[in-house]
Amino acid sequence: MTRIFSGVKPTGHLTLGNYLGAIRRWADEDQHRAESLFCVVDLHALTMEHDPARVRRLSRQAASLMLAAGLDPQGCTVFVQSHVDEHARLSYLLECVATDGEMRRMIQYKEKVVRAQSAGQSVRLSLLTYPALMAADILAYGADEVPVGEDQAQHVELTRDLAERFNLRYGRTFVVPRVTLPTVAARVMDLQDPTGKMGKSHDSTAGIIYLLDEPAVITKKVTRAVTDSASGVEYEPSERPGVANLLEILSSCTGKEPRTLAEDYDSYGALKRDTAEAVVELLRPLQTRHAELSADPGYVDGVLKDGAARARALARPTVDAAYRAIGLLPPT
Ligand code: TYM
Repeated sequence: MTRIFSGVKPTGHLTLGNYLGAIRRWADEDQHRAESLFCVVDLHALTMEHDPARVRRLSRQAASLMLAAGLDPQGCTVFVQSHVDEHARLSYLLECVATDGEMRRMIQYKEKVVRAQSAGQSVRLSLLTYPALMAADILAYGADEVPVGEDQAQHVELTRDLAERFNLRYGRTFVVPRVTLPTVAARVMDLQDPTGKMGKSHDSTAGIIYLLDEPAVITKKVTRAVTDSASGVEYEPSERPGVANLLEILSSCTGKEPRTLAEDYDSYGALKRDTAEAVVELLRPLQTRHAELSADPGYVDGVLKDGAARARALARPTVDAAYRAIGLLPPT
């Protein structure tokens, strides 16, 4: 059976980008067709300056949002990365297979170095080695597919390279995974800066729709979205990124093609109104379910505990095999 692994990093409140690019597909499709693991990758939240209490709070919130989005703990495994030691154990071996040069070529590393430096922060070494840990997340479980948004595709490509290199040098140990991207909304853009992705840890929040935003806030953010001064509504992502972004969001909510939707509108006002309404309706059941789950933290803790036990049992044999293959003496 196909195996799927994916994860979300608790560095901020989850956004519409996280939902449309990844989580919705996990819930609506992936968990029903494959043996799936979905992880709150909390170790990854320590690569930039962080507040310990906030990471803890956001980890729990991310887990309940994943469940609220429809992940069914009977049908898939939901867990927290730091509860399973195998991730960190395997990450070190992959650091011994990766090169300094390939880590430095990662776009997210380059972007985040600039962000850390402009905030006067030092760059943590873990920011550089992050993709080795991400590769470990995936390879420890023998995942065939990794459903992510477009911004993570480069990291999954690197994971493939590391898996192939390890297998070639030390004998076949890892499944070589492939990335799967959504057909629309693979890269939801910031509503205020449609040339940049909607990211959960950006400083300015006016262009970011959070999954727990109130309906009135969502409507205000969509209504104020930056478009352009051209008249008429057309789907031209490179020339008119703001309008294209709204059309993609609406498309992702309605299932209609962005280009077909564009034909239905002759003003930005109507497009924004319908997009806001569609997003509010899309998120309504998730928000209701999240409120219920928040009132029952014991349930979420139980899911995470069971999930970690299942994940550990799956990862252990592969990581042990990698330790043997690379030349480490097994304990007696
Ligand atoms: P993270 O936490 O930044 O994002 C979680 C998922 O949401 C997708 N995503 C988006 N998709 C479309 N438009 C956007 N604006 C947008 N923003 C985020 C991401 O592509 C991702 O799928 N490194 C990963 C977490 C990770 C992981 C893994 C993922 C760690 N280990 C192993 C898969 C497999 C990250 O930072 O995702």
